[in-house]
Amino acid sequence: MTTIQRTAVLTGATSDRGIGITTARRYAREGWGVVILDLDGEKSAKVAAEIGNEFNVPAYGHEIDVANEASVTTAQAAVAAEVAAGNLPPVGALANIAGITSPVPFLETTLELWHKIMDVNATGTYLVTKAFLPDMIGNGWGRIVNMSSVSAQRGGGVFGKVPYSAAKAAILGLTKALARELGTTGVTVNAITPGAVDTNIRVGSTEEQEAAINAGIPLGRNASTEEVASVITFLSSEDSAYLTGTVVDINGGSHMH
Ligand SMILES: NC(=O)c1ccc[n+]([C@@H]2O[C@H](COP(=O)([O-])OP(=O)(O)OC[C@H]3O[C@@H](n4cnc5c(N)ncnc54)[C@H](O)[C@@H]3O)[C@@H](O)[C@H]2O)c1
Repeated sequence: MTTIQRTAVLTGATSDRGIGITTARRYAREGWGVVILDLDGEKSAKVAAEIGNEFNVPAYGHEIDVANEASVTTAQAAVAAEVAAGNLPPVGALANIAGITSPVPFLETTLELWHKIMDVNATGTYLVTKAFLPDMIGNGWGRIVNMSSVSAQRGGGVFGKVPYSAAKAAILGLTKALARELGTTGVTVNAITPGAVDTNIRVGSTEEQEAAINAGIPLGRNASTEEVASVITFLSSEDSAYLTGTVVDINGGSHMH
């Protein structure tokens, strides 16, 4: 077996048809150890074990609520203990993928909904990054990939409305400011802005809504989760060394700027 040198930590990577699980499999295929962090701890462990067995890489799963600081601290400590015990290689990449959306029109939103969408998407990215960053800085190497959305750039237009666009835009600001601050530490921070991706996140959207989305995409279709995963693992690789504070569009041409 090849020596696995680094571990990729992914949040939001247990959803069956999600971007996270496809990305976790891709990391494993490329020879990374894999950590799956998601709301359901048992499912996280199960998905991790399946990926570990299939690709013969170290893998570990743990519960996390990215919006809850205590939960994030607990999850990071559990991962650090696995690394210290030699069960996982050091954490080299963090993919902040966990996210939720909402199609509720602005005047129908509640403050509670606003906070929920901001908490999971933006605050979650902040908390998880803050928890895993010190070890990456200590190792002098790291890759952080944050999940934004084309909605942040063009004011929605896919499914999520105002709170989602605002939260995903906050992630772009976080990404750029942190990239600048980390400078020469060896840790890069980048964001991706997918357009419509073929997952379960838009469950509830109608055929008409889906047709309208596709009509606005020059490539005429949603992205596959693999087409997003490949960009995330590229941004986690040695090859992306000179990219930091970058926003990579994956939108089939639906937003050119
Ligand atoms: N699917 C799209 O069209 C699309 C487009 C652009 C961006 N995105 C973003 O990509 C990411 C993944 O989306 P997806 O389509 O795979 O969605 P998904 O719903 O299939 O997966 C989201 C995952 O996040 C997890 N999650 C939700 N809240 C969490 C929390 N508080 N703590 C930990 N985990 C939590 C869920 O359990 C799930 O595994 C999201 O951030 C989403 O906003 C999706």
